[in-house]
Amino acid sequence: MLGVRVDRREAEEIRRILASAGVIDTTRAIIEHGDCVLIPVTAIPSCRYMDGYECEAVSQEFPSRLKREDPIDEIRRAANVPDDLKYLLPDKWELLGDVLVIRIPNKLEPYEKAIAETYAKVLGVKSVLRDMGGVTGEFRTPVMKKILGSDTVAVHKENGVLFKLDVSQIMFSSGNIDERMRASRIACDNEVVVDMFAGIGYFSIPIAVHQSPRRVIACELNPVAFAYLVENIDLNSVRETVEPIRGDNRNLEGESIADRVFMGYVKTTHEYLRTAIRLIRDGGVIHYHETCPCELLPDRPICRLRSAAGDDNVEVLGVREVKSYSPGVSHIVVDARILKSG
Ligand SMILES: C[S@@+](CC[C@H](N)C(=O)[O-])C[C@H]1O[C@@H](n2cnc3c(N)ncnc32)[C@H](O)[C@@H]1O
Repeated sequence: MLGVRVDRREAEEIRRILASAGVIDTTRAIIEHGDCVLIPVTAIPSCRYMDGYECEAVSQEFPSRLKREDPIDEIRRAANVPDDLKYLLPDKWELLGDVLVIRIPNKLEPYEKAIAETYAKVLGVKSVLRDMGGVTGEFRTPVMKKILGSDTVAVHKENGVLFKLDVSQIMFSSGNIDERMRASRIACDNEVVVDMFAGIGYFSIPIAVHQSPRRVIACELNPVAFAYLVENIDLNSVRETVEPIRGDNRNLEGESIADRVFMGYVKTTHEYLRTAIRLIRDGGVIHYHETCPCELLPDRPICRLRSAAGDDNVEVLGVREVKSYSPGVSHIVVDARILKSG
């Protein structure tokens, strides 16, 4: 039988990743052995899920066990909600550390407290937030309502990186996970990297943890996000590499100082392209994000890059979709090398 041997300290987190990749053999029991835990799997998951974790594929006999109940079945059974409304209980949720975020349809509004209690009990979390939909303003603040618990600060682990954040105040988009993973795998040895929209360190910290840049300049405008950025730099022991700068990235000083610029922001990112072009050195790469109507792809983001670059040459290295943003609108990222004219 196939299994994955993992460090006991990371076992629960890896188990969750394997579960979300759908490869856990639920007919078999997990084995605990000293500092290791052996998890039965039906296949080895793609390495994009497992990067940054210490784990090893093994051949191992696992004892059989009865299939564990799906949490949503347990939630549906236990929730104090009229039977004819139970189908509306959300079967998807966001779990950031031990804080849960759920979307509750309006019809279930009168039962939201009871619903939160059931989810908290079944999923073992300390607080439950109701996602009221969307993010607002230039800080991209999520619209959340606390429905259970008062402590909404979580430490979420992803890709071997710890992200501390107040989930009620700071966004953490699970839809951007592939892009955060990709950024952490871009080789940038000895480079100076500028992260213009650093947030709590979504890109800066994985890059510093998994690659060997000379320096990462992480700029963030929102004081709340900035405070977590500073904490997360410490939490992940990357103080030597990541320099947090609080303020508007358009005020970052210098010209041709960066080998690489990350522009992980949407909606108005093009307004910051002139700054990115000023900061990038000849031959450096800009990772430019944009939310774009699908029918304007890939021309609009490329034209915006070319227009901001003026006489400088833009060599497009790739255009990829980060996620679908809304119906007919795509969140994309363009990787472009800038060749300076003078
Ligand atoms: C929320 S992050 C984007 C999400 C992230 N890329 C991910 O992987 O999920 C964008 C951050 O840019 C910050 N920001 C917005 N305008 C800015 C500016 N002019 N200068 C610096 N930071 C800015 C916001 O406060 C926010 O924290």
